Parts: sequence; structure tokens; C-alpha cells
Amino acid sequence: MSAMTQIDLAQSNALFNNYGPRALRMVRGEGVFLYDDAGKQYLDFTAGIAVCNLGHADKGLAEVIAKQAGTLLHTSNLFLIPGQVALAQKLADLAGLAEDAKVMFVNSGTEANEAALKLVRKYHASVAGKARTKVLSLPNAFHGRTMGALSLTPKAAYHEGFTPLVPDCVTPETLADVLTAIDEDVAACIVEVVQGEAGVYPLATDYLQALANRLHEVGALLIVDEVQTGVGRTGRFFAYEQVGIQPDVVTLAKGLGNGVPVGAVIARESVAAAFSPGSHGSTFGGNPLAMAAGNYVVDTVTAKGFLDGVCQVSVALEQVLRRYFTNVSGRGMMWGFDVADAKTFAKQAVERGLLVTKCSPTRIRIVPPLILREEHVERFESIVQKLA
Ligand SMILES: Cc1ncc(COP(=O)(O)O)c(C=O)c1O
Repeated sequence: MSAMTQIDLAQSNALFNNYGPRALRMVRGEGVFLYDDAGKQYLDFTAGIAVCNLGHADKGLAEVIAKQAGTLLHTSNLFLIPGQVALAQKLADLAGLAEDAKVMFVNSGTEANEAALKLVRKYHASVAGKARTKVLSLPNAFHGRTMGALSLTPKAAYHEGFTPLVPDCVTPETLADVLTAIDEDVAACIVEVVQGEAGVYPLATDYLQALANRLHEVGALLIVDEVQTGVGRTGRFFAYEQVGIQPDVVTLAKGLGNGVPVGAVIARESVAAAFSPGSHGSTFGGNPLAMAAGNYVVDTVTAKGFLDGVCQVSVALEQVLRRYFTNVSGRGMMWGFDVADAKTFAKQAVERGLLVTKCSPTRIRIVPPLILREEHVERFESIVQKLA
């Protein structure tokens, strides 16, 4: 470790405390493994919180990033960025929306949802011809931390000290209440197909279809938040493909850049039309570096056989989880399960070289890189069988 690194760490009290104390210091990654500053290896079932789908230090991605950095990092959206045009076309084709799709780039999940919230209001005001401002979200949803996204995230603890939130962002008490709340005043409803932060709970297919139909009936829009589920995490490029619903707006981030911050909003053409020049923007959004990473990631994840491999290893992973844990739920490479004490479980996992995340005092979430192989699942089993 360099002297500089030692000084930085010793002075880390200059940081805000919004993440609490963090004991581990990761300094290197390779594939599905992370290494701390003492050289200890960890099987990384956090993947940067569902971000590093291609694992750590992917050689192809590193080359693409280095090449782009040596050519052109940033121009702003004053200029047309060729990488945006290419990536937008790929995402629009993959999305399979009811009309041709258009894409706009941002830098994170919360920004994508923030933009989606603005877009659906603007759509009703300027395209659909009647202003509607009410946007619904679901119980236990998580959509991000900026004011709009936070207003669509019903967890009371996240709201504390930040009120008043954005008006007309409403989360009914139950899933059934969401259906009955949908009327001609509703602009849109935002959903996660698998509620990740809540504990990795897939929503029932018939519920999602009923929700989509009801929104359609009243001319309200369906926003599917694929920030965590998208880019192959559930075994298909978009999780909504697995449940037979067609969104009007889709938000993406996390896995899209494999660690380079990239977010995107995909919308069907007539909805995207609500944004005219000046409606919305981002200095960094879709910059050449982000687009180099995004294009590489999408090409890799959509290459023949990649997602079949994810589905195959996912079956082995699910079998192991069901052998040792209760209340196992999830899809593809995102799973949750119950434990007696999540804090103790995560701590003991770290001691044995496994990284997981807690999503409640009794629930663990795992979101390993999509490049996970059966040998890694075996290693995972050898660790958790001592913890379960
Ligand atoms: C479903 C979902 N939406 C939005 C977000 C917010 O994304 P970000 O942290 O990139 O702002 C997250 C983050 O966990 C998420 O899981």
C-alpha cells in the first residue's frame, strides 16, 4: 500500500457519515472476486449493488474505456455524440415497445426516474392534451434518493427531515389499492418487476398485467423501473419481457455501464415527443466515455449465449439457496432469502470470504455478477452451508 493511500485512509473522517462506518477497503477486482488492502479474496455477491454485471476488471471494457479516454472524454450535449446514437438504437430495438422507441441518457438510476417523472407530466400537459400530475408508486418500492424519486419511494425512514416531498406522488397502502387508485387523474404508475431493495420480491405476473391494462384503459402511462433488474440481471435483457407487459417508459442505470455511471430513459415515440429542446438536460448525460462503456456492455450482454448462460447458472444458484434458506425469492442473478439475523450473517460471510447485502434485519440480498459460473456457486455453497 502506498504512503499516500495510508494518509487518505487515516483522514477518512473528512467524509460525510451518510453511509455509516465501513470497515472493508477493496482495492482490486478480478471477475467475480474482490480483494481488500490486506490481499484477502472475497466472492463478490454484491457486484457494486447490481452494477458490475460483467464482473470486475473486464479486459475488453478496460480497453474500450482507456481508448475512449485517450480520444475524447467529454463534450457535453452541445454536440451530437456518435456513441449515443449507436446505444440509443440498440436499446430502442431491445425494448420492443408498442411504437418506435427513443432514448435519453442520464447518469444514475435516480436521475432516470426523475426524468421519467417529468416526462409523464409533460406528456399529459403537452401531448395528451389534459394536464395530469398524479404519479402512483407501489408499496415497498424503491426508486432513488433525489426529491422526485424519493417522493415515489414510500419508506418513511428515507423521508425523515426531507418533507415536503413532490406533490401528487402517491403510494397507496396495498397493491390492490393501487389498482383502485388508477383513474383519469393519474398520469402514470411506476413499478419494479422485481422489488430489489425491498428484499428481491418479484411481483405476480397477473398483477402486473392487470395494472398495465388498467393504466392503458384510463390513458395513464406505465413506467417500468429497470434500474436494478435491467441489462440481463433477471436472465432477459429487461425483466418486463418475462411478465408480458409493455411499458410506455423504461428507466435503466446500474448494469448499463458496469461501473461507469450511465443511466437511460427509454420511451415510446409519442411519449418522448413531450420533451422538446430545452425541456430537460444533463451536462454529463451520455458523454463519450459513458457511451463507450454502455455500448460495450450492451454488445456483451446481448451476444449469443450470454443470457442463456445466466439462466443456466441461475438454476444452480436457486437450488443451493432453497437447500439452505427459507422464503427464497428472485429471478436470474437477483435473490433474497431470510436469515435469523442479517447483520450477523453478513459479518460471518465476510469472515469466510463472501460479500452479500442486507435488506432488512432478517433478509439478505445477493446480486452476483452475471458472469458467475457453477464453480462459483459451489464455492458460495461451501461458505453458506456453515452459516445457514
Ligand atoms: C429499482 C431502483 N431504482 C432506482 C435506484 C436508484 O439508482 P441510483 O442509486 O443509481 O440513483 C435503485 C438503486 O438501488 C433501484 O434499485
